[in-house]
Amino acid sequence: MQKYKIITYGCQMNVHESEKAAGILKTLGYEPCLDEADADLLLYNTCCIRDNAEKRAIGNIGAAKKYKKANRNLIIAVMGCMTQQEKAGESLRSRLPFVDIVIGTNNLDKLGEYITQFTEARKPVIAIDDNENPAINENLPIYRTSGTNAWINIMYGCNNFCTYCIVPYVRGRERSRHPAAVIDEFKAMLDAGYKEITLLGQNVNSYGNDIGLKHGFVDLLEKLASFSGDHRIRFMTSHPKDFSRDLIDVIAGSKNICNNIHLPVQSGSDKILKLMNRHYTRADYLDIIDQIRAKIPNCGITSDIMVGFPYEEEADFLDTLDLVERVKYSGAFTFVYSVRKGTPAAAMPQIDPLIAKDRIMRLVALQNKITKEVSKTYEGRTCRVLCEDMAPKHDNLVCGRTDCGRMVTFSGNIGDIGKFFDVEIESSKSASLFGKVIN
Ligand code: 5AD
Ligand code: SF4
Repeated sequence: MQKYKIITYGCQMNVHESEKAAGILKTLGYEPCLDEADADLLLYNTCCIRDNAEKRAIGNIGAAKKYKKANRNLIIAVMGCMTQQEKAGESLRSRLPFVDIVIGTNNLDKLGEYITQFTEARKPVIAIDDNENPAINENLPIYRTSGTNAWINIMYGCNNFCTYCIVPYVRGRERSRHPAAVIDEFKAMLDAGYKEITLLGQNVNSYGNDIGLKHGFVDLLEKLASFSGDHRIRFMTSHPKDFSRDLIDVIAGSKNICNNIHLPVQSGSDKILKLMNRHYTRADYLDIIDQIRAKIPNCGITSDIMVGFPYEEEADFLDTLDLVERVKYSGAFTFVYSVRKGTPAAAMPQIDPLIAKDRIMRLVALQNKITKEVSKTYEGRTCRVLCEDMAPKHDNLVCGRTDCGRMVTFSGNIGDIGKFFDVEIESSKSASLFGKVIN
């Protein structure tokens, strides 16, 4: 039996796309292996959202040369966002000539054909279609590897063109799946016993706009929430400019939809938000937060925040800190702005990297303090937790998340994975909670 290993970089979209690649490889008769050295096929699923993500992928693909030396028949393939950048196919092959197959973001469904083509001709295969209206393939096999959680793509691509972001260039325009296709997949996941289902899209709030639906996401979520059973629904990512009030009501009114919203703000300064082409102001954003807090009191709200964007001055950064202080995110992903070639912000004057470094440290310190404070508020409370896995490095501790998205560690064993527990939170440390099962 031929063996494969997929090495995935980047976001949940990529994690899920690797599951699709794995589904195709399984139909070809491949089986997964843990160690690169044992593989007959290494597939790198890349990310190019920031320079460091890209460098890490390139470095690791470069290091794969040694496996090829040890096994001349090893196939090395590269897929994901990096391949879809301008001229990336050729430049990847010229920098890493031992790569055998390069697949664009719209070519994944033909992975099997490319592998056959390569094994027959032993000539490099570069297959990168452009992003002009690619069809959605509803028939891809999926080999799910994310434990108790099943990912479901509801849409692909992004229309927003935030001025810093490469995603619209490498993933193309928004394409929504038909609601019936999403609902069928959702039902199949429930039948398969998944306890948590996460809906994925770059901007789930504009789901359906491209196929003529009026309240696409709210209607879809309401429909999915109407299925009875002991399971829960998450979704990501929301864009504040399209976040509707109806959505808050649907979440508040359903026990199956998690009280957990990832709502990236990026910056707390109106000047910077405008330069980023985000289409909302700080006041708009804070207004949404107030409404969420009023209707979903225990909602875990998380964010993506960037510092060091062109023209960011100390006053703009202080606006970001102030917003973070007001919102009290339960957690945040924080980034230093990274220049992406071909995006509008790449042509703007860049700020001193030392200033950006100082700001990210201050932002991280503030968010860490808030994360800790929010964690403390859980102490003494009882939370419903879905046991997801064994706790790292422990035989008798398990971990899982609360409805609001907080990680909790508690006593348990492997048989508890996939079950819900009421856990009384006894203590906390940074973002982690520790508790005991009370049912
Ligand atoms: N530099 C830094 N961070 C970026 N992100 C997107 N593009 C860039 C970039 N060029 C961040 C945003 C986005 C998250 C997925 O990645 O915060 O929400
Ligand atoms: Fe990038 Fe903005 Fe689209 Fe998110 S919404 S993927 S940040 S362009």
